[in-house]
Amino acid sequence: MLRTFIVGLGRAGMELHWPVLRRLRERSPWLFADDPPLALDAQDKRTVAENAGLLPVSSLVEAGRLTDPEQTVVHVCTPPTARLDLLRRLSAAGFRQIVMEKPLAADAATLAEIDEVRRSGDLRMVVVAHWLDSALTRRLLELTITGELGPLKSISFAQLKPRLQRTLGSTGHPTAFDVELPHSVGVALRIAGDAKVAAAELTDMRVGRLVVPGMGSARLVLDHDSGPRTTIFSDLASPVRERRIELEFAGGRAIGHFPGGEDDHFAHLTVSRGAGMASGVSADVFPDDALSTFFSRVYEEFADGISFDEEFRLANRVVELLDEAKASSVLTGPAVSAGPGEEVMKVAS
Ligand SMILES: NC(=O)c1ccc[n+]([C@@H]2O[C@H](COP(=O)([O-])OP(=O)(O)OC[C@H]3O[C@@H](n4cnc5c(N)ncnc54)[C@H](O)[C@@H]3O)[C@@H](O)[C@H]2O)c1
Repeated sequence: MLRTFIVGLGRAGMELHWPVLRRLRERSPWLFADDPPLALDAQDKRTVAENAGLLPVSSLVEAGRLTDPEQTVVHVCTPPTARLDLLRRLSAAGFRQIVMEKPLAADAATLAEIDEVRRSGDLRMVVVAHWLDSALTRRLLELTITGELGPLKSISFAQLKPRLQRTLGSTGHPTAFDVELPHSVGVALRIAGDAKVAAAELTDMRVGRLVVPGMGSARLVLDHDSGPRTTIFSDLASPVRERRIELEFAGGRAIGHFPGGEDDHFAHLTVSRGAGMASGVSADVFPDDALSTFFSRVYEEFADGISFDEEFRLANRVVELLDEAKASSVLTGPAVSAGPGEEVMKVAS
């Protein structure tokens, strides 16, 4: 049975990982040690941790004294800019089973260093990519593999959400590519295979007289080696929330919506078939709690000693493509200077 150790008690650690793990501990008690999960943050969040039923520790050394690192799964829920050094220290303290929040790294250079720590420390590391475990993704993958709507022509994603407050309050994500696109790029690669960046664009977030470079919207076009093209648009300054995916096939179309938030775990899928006898539209709404499915699977696989190498390679490829996207979008953004009366907010680098 595995003990949990959550590092980084912000939104991901306390609002996503812990509530889901808490439910899973009740549903699948055989997977989890009875002892309360350990919790560590760079800030003093002892009271937050205790109130949530976690056991706060003040260092990795203390954590190593309270739990057997070999029997512990560490959830790294720090921002992408605060990962590498932490991972080195976790490895040095003997922790080998790691669930890493997305994106795996904010750039390709850090990615290579993370991979080096993974190899040298013999770490079993899985990156949170729960859209790959989503019931909606599985159905879309099945439509593609069976070929029942003909060959896949294109994929498009819209990832819209109002993320103004969080963007103004923290600098953990260097660009809008780092926030939502790790989910969609992974799904596009899983459905249509490897790809190259065809076009990429970033815009700034503007709130009153504040300008946050590169944190407004991100657009990415990928050309898959197998032929289809993927277009992804993410707007972090949108007034509405939407997570939409559309697959265009030679003989039909599938339009899906991933659940919009943590308060309602249902996905929607509408499939339109082409002309002729078999034409028609079918619409379905179904449960899709992808993060629970993901955590449940990875704890089972940690317990069974199964390798995460294949999904780690996919997470790597996602970071490489996003890194290329950032490099090639330099000309269209981010802004380096503000307009009259505007002030540029410093972001992570
Ligand atoms: N999978 C998802 O759907 C999803 C959703 C939200 C966030 N995330 C990802 O989770 C990561 C964290 O995002 P967040 O929104 O929770 O950020 P956050 O700013 O809300 O929280 C991060 C926490 O990490 C702590 N921290 C930073 N460096 C640390 C260190 N070296 N040791 C210990 N604690 C440290 C901070 O003090 C803070 O409490 C990001 O990579 C983000 O992209 C993923």
